[in-house]
Amino acid sequence: MTTSNRVTIRDVARQAGVSVATVSRVLAGDYPVLAATRNKVIRAVRELDYVPNAHARALSAARPGAIAIVVNSVAVPYYAYIAQGVEEQAAQEGRLSLICTHGGDTGRELSIVQLLREQRAEAVILVGSVIVDDEYRKRMTEYAHALAAAGSRLVLCGRPPLGEGVPALVVGFDNTGGAHAVTAHLLSAGHRRILYLGLRPGHTTSDSRVAGYRSALAEHGVPGDPGLEVEAEFSRDAGYAAMNGRLAAGPPDFTAVFAGNDLVAAGAIQSLREHGLRVPEDMSIVGYDDVPPAQDLGLTTVHLPHDELGRAAVRLALGRTTTSPMTLGTHIVVRDSVRPRLAAPLGS
Ligand code: ADE
Repeated sequence: MTTSNRVTIRDVARQAGVSVATVSRVLAGDYPVLAATRNKVIRAVRELDYVPNAHARALSAARPGAIAIVVNSVAVPYYAYIAQGVEEQAAQEGRLSLICTHGGDTGRELSIVQLLREQRAEAVILVGSVIVDDEYRKRMTEYAHALAAAGSRLVLCGRPPLGEGVPALVVGFDNTGGAHAVTAHLLSAGHRRILYLGLRPGHTTSDSRVAGYRSALAEHGVPGDPGLEVEAEFSRDAGYAAMNGRLAAGPPDFTAVFAGNDLVAAGAIQSLREHGLRVPEDMSIVGYDDVPPAQDLGLTTVHLPHDELGRAAVRLALGRTTTSPMTLGTHIVVRDSVRPRLAAPLGS
């Protein structure tokens, strides 16, 4: 400490083991600094009770910022459960969390990211399936650099990495592995004509699930049939409408359904019932995500570690872990929506 007993920025730098310039950057919050370094500086500021008189405002900027999660909607269980994990981990880390929704509007997403940057959020976590095209890559790269320039971090959750040199962290889950496993579960029960309900060409989550479905069929020597891959958004209404459309065309030419997510499965089950088909006696069905109403429906599905995804996103943002991209595991939850397919009568 200096002879006048007044704590200076040099004392803080020495205590934190960083340069004076780094302390200044952390206090100003105007330059990207690793979260671990920033934490060291903030700890030293507190321990030494450093008050840069003329820079009191800067001290407030050094306080931990909020962790923001940006999702399509909080009324969709997939997002709500990931947000819950973010909130729990943020609270554990002494951070406030902010939940923002854009409803699929990229203009709204952009203004949310800009506002969060101005608010000096410590991290911005963007969640959910996307169509990865040049426009998306450009937009995300701009977000990542703009946030980094303000000392904030961008975390992509349930989305693919952006590529070398883009300052974005990534946490995802084994989407394809889960789809492969649940399709293999249907195949092991003797099903060969399995309808995939939830095709959304270009969407990263759907594409990975379809890839798992196709690879399991191929592994079991079952030829793929494009006629068994049906488009549907990831919602209950879409599942209901898509199954209605399919059944309106005549009796089902499939014995099992792999729904793109549990909401699609719920809608499809309603349609099947309205057409006099019982699950699982007349039709087997599986879902994906393991969110309500999967348990109430007795639906066999793939469990996603929603809570852990949210927690891992926060840990990455705060530099508690450096593994990026990080891929979390998925597993099947067997309930009561699949029955073995009865052997076809001889001669049929
Ligand atoms: N499950 C996985 N991804 C999803 C999404 N984008 N929307 C709704 N449910 C999902």
